[in-house]
Amino acid sequence: MKITFSPAGLGTTPFLVIGSGIAGLYTALKLAEIANVTLITKEALEESNTSYAQGGIAVALSPADSPDLHYTDTIQAGAGLCLPPAVATLVHEGPERVQELIAWGVPFDADAGTLLMTREAAHSFPRVLHADGDASGREITKVLAQRVAGHPRITVKENHYAVALLTGEEGCYGAMVLDENGTRTSILAEATILATGGSGQIFTDTTNPAVATGDGLALAYLAGAPLADLEFVQFHPTALHLEGAPCFLITEAVRGEGGILRNQRGVRFMPSYHEQAELAPRDVVARSVWSEMEKTGTDHVYLDLSLLSTELIKSRFPNIYETCLSYGLDITKAPIPVAPAAHYMMGGIAIDLHGRTALPRLFACGEVANSGVHGANRLASNSLLDGLVFGYRIFRYLQNSPWQRPDLPPELAAVFPTETSPELLAADRSALKELASTHLGIIRREDALQNAQRQVAPASSATPIPLNRPYLELQNMRLLVRLMLDAALSRRESRGSHYRADYPDPDPAWAKRIVLSPTGVSFIPADQPFSWSW
Ligand code: FUM
Repeated sequence: MKITFSPAGLGTTPFLVIGSGIAGLYTALKLAEIANVTLITKEALEESNTSYAQGGIAVALSPADSPDLHYTDTIQAGAGLCLPPAVATLVHEGPERVQELIAWGVPFDADAGTLLMTREAAHSFPRVLHADGDASGREITKVLAQRVAGHPRITVKENHYAVALLTGEEGCYGAMVLDENGTRTSILAEATILATGGSGQIFTDTTNPAVATGDGLALAYLAGAPLADLEFVQFHPTALHLEGAPCFLITEAVRGEGGILRNQRGVRFMPSYHEQAELAPRDVVARSVWSEMEKTGTDHVYLDLSLLSTELIKSRFPNIYETCLSYGLDITKAPIPVAPAAHYMMGGIAIDLHGRTALPRLFACGEVANSGVHGANRLASNSLLDGLVFGYRIFRYLQNSPWQRPDLPPELAAVFPTETSPELLAADRSALKELASTHLGIIRREDALQNAQRQVAPASSATPIPLNRPYLELQNMRLLVRLMLDAALSRRESRGSHYRADYPDPDPAWAKRIVLSPTGVSFIPADQPFSWSW
């Protein structure tokens, strides 16, 4: 559904940032060096996927490490689908960005002034910085959010939900928003930055918080900006699977410190799947756990911490220790029951190396964006770095380009998803999550994908759609599931996190990206950067 209106009389903010994870907060802080920024976020400033990140931030800061090694590890994990210049940007610009966080006061764990670094899966070197043990995301968020909240050039609007991007002759002009009272307003901007994060909520089991409903992906798509790599969803191999407890992340760093995966019979299984055993790439470990669960007819395996001392467990993983204890599990004494859960969306809004989307004046960074940096399987702890590096790239582009304040067109448009009719919507959320989990999970098959596709075909309804957050979130999720099914059906091979039981091997002919936009599907070679003419 499309509505149009005249923007006459509405004020403009130079920069509108939507989202408050690491990408949104950091980009807002950098842009405030140029001009005023309005930052909107759908709940509290500190509520985002970033806040729940445990492992930390991968960066080649150790003198014995190098960006080139980090580059090689990232490319290897990405299963032939990483974009080399994007990865080079990430690993070479990453150290300076992290130094900036340190200068701003992020308290990364250190011993006598030397930063402590952990090794995580598929890294050839211990390069993951962490904070307060396993509360890295929370600590980074605290520092950034405090700076944003106190910044004289940044206006923060919490509990503001973006419902559509505003488009006109020259691209994007901001967003239509529901404010904290559910009232519709428009925020016009010279440049709009989407940093809305992930979409784990489309699955039943996810490490993501309730806010991660993929809104930014839907907004961008409906406004005409293409999405890429939507078939690639990262399932984390070890989420807590305990009766009565939430689906809580058990960081990969636990395996980095010596945690061992065992099946129901107590047998260590990872060495029989991959030479790097528990530290194999994440997609491999997730599939191996899944396979052991199938073989033993159970819904979890165990993470055995018996090689870690009680002191190490409590000091390195205080958050996991306390959380498990609060559900009656003492992890210094018993193994942790774990199962895979949806964790990270590799696919996203196609961006170039400046964070520009195909839609003029619309930028994206963080999990919602796709620069090609993660390929078919993201290397552990590269996501926080991604948010910083590509957020900075947007800042630098806007700082250096002869940025023209746009003339407001006589008419602006906002497009809303109409995936299902309001009459059919009741109780649809859990059905949608079931459908995505069953058909778009770790193992996929053509007939099941087709079956699911029939169930989420877009509806046409004469009833006007209600503009409220629960309804629009579900519409966004439903649109996203439909697009993910299209992509997963198209890719007739197995690569990285996308595993097709009916096409179990990688096919070199598929070294390309699937790009989806309202005007159709296109395929671009994996080594070809996105580039736009604006
Ligand atoms: O296991 C973890 O701590 C997850 C890290 C990540 O998603 O990068």
